[in-house]
Amino acid sequence: MSKKLFIKTYGCQMNVYDSGRMADVLAPLGYRPTSSPEEADMIILNTCHIREKAAEKVFSELGRMRAIKAARADRGARTLIAVAGCVAQAEGQEITRRAPYVDMVFGPQTYHRLPEMVARVARAGANGAGAGGKSSRVLETDFPVEAKFDELPETSASAAPAAFLTVQEGCDRFCTFCVVPYTRGAEYSRPLADVLAEARRLTGAGASEITLLGQNVNAYHGADADGNDRGLGYLIRELAAVEGLKRIRYTTSHPRDMDEELIAAHGEVEALMPFVHLPVQSGAERILMAMNRGHGMQDYLAIIDRLRAARSDIALSSDFIIGFPGESEAEFEATMDLVRSVGFAQSYSFKYSPRPGTPAASLAEQVPEELKAERLARLQDLLGAQQDAFNKASLGATVPVLFERTGRKKGQLVGRTPHMQAVHIEAPAGLLGRVVDVRLTRALANSLAGEIATRPGTGPADAEIAGRAIA
Ligand code: SAH
Ligand code: SF4
Ligand code: F3S
Repeated sequence: MSKKLFIKTYGCQMNVYDSGRMADVLAPLGYRPTSSPEEADMIILNTCHIREKAAEKVFSELGRMRAIKAARADRGARTLIAVAGCVAQAEGQEITRRAPYVDMVFGPQTYHRLPEMVARVARAGANGAGAGGKSSRVLETDFPVEAKFDELPETSASAAPAAFLTVQEGCDRFCTFCVVPYTRGAEYSRPLADVLAEARRLTGAGASEITLLGQNVNAYHGADADGNDRGLGYLIRELAAVEGLKRIRYTTSHPRDMDEELIAAHGEVEALMPFVHLPVQSGAERILMAMNRGHGMQDYLAIIDRLRAARSDIALSSDFIIGFPGESEAEFEATMDLVRSVGFAQSYSFKYSPRPGTPAASLAEQVPEELKAERLARLQDLLGAQQDAFNKASLGATVPVLFERTGRKKGQLVGRTPHMQAVHIEAPAGLLGRVVDVRLTRALANSLAGEIATRPGTGPADAEIAGRAIA
C-alpha cells in the first residue's frame, strides 16, 4: 500500500539534494512524496545547524509536527517523525530528550540505512513494544564505516531542469566559526565514474543544468578509472561531454582550493557558467587568520583577477560573516573595502553566530549584537547596491535563460541567466527545461523581468521557440 512522505528541508543545497536521495531510498518501501504534512505517514525534517537561528527553527517546527501526529493518532493513523540533517548530527541526544514524540534522529552520513531504521521503528510499533517507549526509537549519529554513496539507490526517474549533484561532502578545513566539519564529517570525494554516471541519469531524466555540490566542492579529488586523483576542473571537462547537459555550475568553493585547472576551465568549457560563488567571510587579514581560513585578503583578490583573466564576464558572489569575535571598526571597514574593490553580483551575509563546540565560540571579545546588526546593515546596503547595479547593467541585453520552474503567477515561468539572475517571464509551460533567448527588460526587487527574444540567425531551435511563444 502506498504511504505518504513529507520532507521539509532547511539549510544549504546539499540538504536539498539529500532530501531527494532520502525520498529515493524510501520509494521501494512504498513511500510517495506529499506536500502536506497532515496526510503524511512519515515526516522528515532535514535540518541545518549553521547558525543559531537555523537550529532553533527545528524545535518550533517539531511542536507543529507533534500536533499533526496527535491529530492523526485520534483518527487511528500512525505518523513517524524523523529529524535528519546537521541538527540531528549535532544535537541528536538533546532532540530525543526534549521531543519524546520523535521516532528517529539520524545524521547526514546514515541515509542509506533509512529502510532498516524505518523497519526497526515500525516493528517495535506493531508489536506494541515501544508505544512511546524508548525501545522503539532510533538515534543514529555515528559516522558509519561504509560510504553512503556506495549504498544509496540510483537517483529517481525524473529530474528538475536544474538539478543538484553532490560530488564531495564533509570538510577538513575547520574554520573556527563553523560546525560543518563536525556535522558532515571528514572530507570525501565520490569517484569520477560515479559522478558521470549520475550526471547521465539526471540529463536522461530531464536535467539541462547540473550544479555540482560540496561543502568545499573545489577540494574535489575523485579517483578516475586508473586510480588517479582528478580535480574539479578535470571533472567539469568530462561532464561537458555528457549528452544533453547544457549548463554546469558548482558550489561552494573555497579560495584555498581554487586551482589553475579549474580557473582555466572557466575560459575553455562553454557549458561552465560564468558565475562563481567564492566565500571570503572577511576582508581583514587578522580576522581571516583567526577564522583559520588559510588565505589572506590579497590571495582572494589575486584569484578574482585570475578568474577574470580567464573569463572576462565572470560574475562573483560571496559569503560574509560580520562581527567575528574581536572584529574592530577598522577590520569591518576592510571588509567594506574588499567589497568595493571586487564588486559582487550577489552575496550572502550573516551576523556571526557562536556555535557550540567551535573554537571561536569560546573566544573573549564577542561583538555585541547591536554592533553586529549595525555593521551588517551597512554591509548589506553596499552589497544590495552592487547587486542592483549589476542587474540594471544587464537590462536591454539578450541572454540565454534556462526555464527552471513555473512562477507563482499563472502563465509565468522562472528561469536563470548564465549569471544566476532569476528571470520572470510570460511563457508557455512547454518551454520548461529549455534554454531560450530572453531580452531583459526590467529589474524587480530580487530578479529581472524579460521577454522572449526574436533574434534573427540564432539557429533553428531559438527561432522556433521565439515564433511559438509570440504567436
Ligand atoms: N564551505 C563554505 C561555507 C559553508 S557554510 C566555505 O568555506 O565558504 C555557508 C556560510 O555560512 C559560510 O560561508 C559562512 O558565511 C556562514 N556561516 C558559517 N558558520 C557561521 C557562523 N557560525 N555564524 C555566521 N555565519 C556562519
Ligand atoms: Fe565550514 Fe570552513 Fe569547511 Fe566552509 S571550509 S564548510 S566554512 S569549515
Ligand atoms: Fe546547514 Fe549542514 Fe548545510 S549545517 S548549511 S545543512 S551542511
